[in-house]
Amino acid sequence: MTPSVQALVLVGGKGTRLRPLTLSAPKPMLPTAGAPFLTHLLSRIREAGITDVVLGTSYQAQVFAEHYGDGSSLGLNLTYITEEQPLGTGGGIRNVYDALTADTVLVFNGDVLGGTDIRDVVQTHRESAAEVTLHLVRVKDPRAFGCVPTDASGRVTAFLEKTQDPPTNQINAGTYVFNRSVIGEIPSGRPVSVEREVFPSLLAQGRHIHAHVDDAYWRDMGTPEDFVRGSADLVRGIAPSPALDKACGESLVLDGANVGRGAVLIGGTVVGRGATIGAGARLDGAVVFDGASIDAGAVVERSIVGFDARVGEGALVRDTVIGDRASIGARCELLRGARVWPEVTIPENGIRFSTDV
Ligand code: GTP
Repeated sequence: MTPSVQALVLVGGKGTRLRPLTLSAPKPMLPTAGAPFLTHLLSRIREAGITDVVLGTSYQAQVFAEHYGDGSSLGLNLTYITEEQPLGTGGGIRNVYDALTADTVLVFNGDVLGGTDIRDVVQTHRESAAEVTLHLVRVKDPRAFGCVPTDASGRVTAFLEKTQDPPTNQINAGTYVFNRSVIGEIPSGRPVSVEREVFPSLLAQGRHIHAHVDDAYWRDMGTPEDFVRGSADLVRGIAPSPALDKACGESLVLDGANVGRGAVLIGGTVVGRGATIGAGARLDGAVVFDGASIDAGAVVERSIVGFDARVGEGALVRDTVIGDRASIGARCELLRGARVWPEVTIPENGIRFSTDV
């Protein structure tokens, strides 16, 4: 039976803003509250009753198929379409055209954590009879995002780049409903941006793009800061996910992890499988990947600690990303956006911001 709605999730980006974590894994596969980030999105899609899902892959394409296979463990029928050279967001959508059978296609950026009921977005699309419907969220500070003004009927009137003086607080949430035929009009065989080229061009032609606007939970997980906050929001139940049995409270400690006496885990901290937290360590909003260790008395705040990495005794790590298997010596201080590359070893006291010893 031909499904009436199919989903496409774009997961082919290189995730440069999350390097070095994305050197070894594509961004949507980074662990978030005990599961690859993408699992939370796929579970939401399944919860909306959509079972036919295409993953538009490029960077590290094989990782997705190795993990999800045919998708049956999530109740999905998954297919993979790979771009040899990344074609951008619009090119990635065009590239799956031949694999689409449904007339209505839901397209998701693969790095968005959201709380909107996907069925409502499809419903808006049907009611407005538009060719494309964009999910927009209202945010407090829209200056960092592309803004999308609408008229009184909910029709999109412009697609604006980031500006210091946005005319609306409605931003593009990275979820779109396309009539399949519109996807066929996107130029093929070359990189195309859906945001910068496809939508502005459709508007210039006077085509009907509609908006589904709401105030639901929404976060683009593209930067370390957002990744840390999104992960903590999942743990604390602020961001909903059908892939999580329940909100876990202040922290989530996964199987086989070991937490030492007097350690404090707060702020939505996640301790990965087989990780070790030393006595008296303090983790606040930390994302500790599987197999990592945080030694006694260390403090880790709003930071990501990569697979099998180590933070030495008494070290302070704040707003920092530590690559896989890196080793941070005892009493080091890493602050304010520091990024440690995989395998790097920093000796004891090797980096400090304070002068006391
Ligand atoms: P940055 O390099 O940090 O900007 O990350 P990114 O490469 O993931 O780019 P961005 O966050 O703008 O991408 C939004 C979504 O589109 C993500 O889910 C990406 O995986 C996906 N995406 C970006 N570029 C491509 C592409 O060329 N092909 C495909 N299939 N997906 C893409």
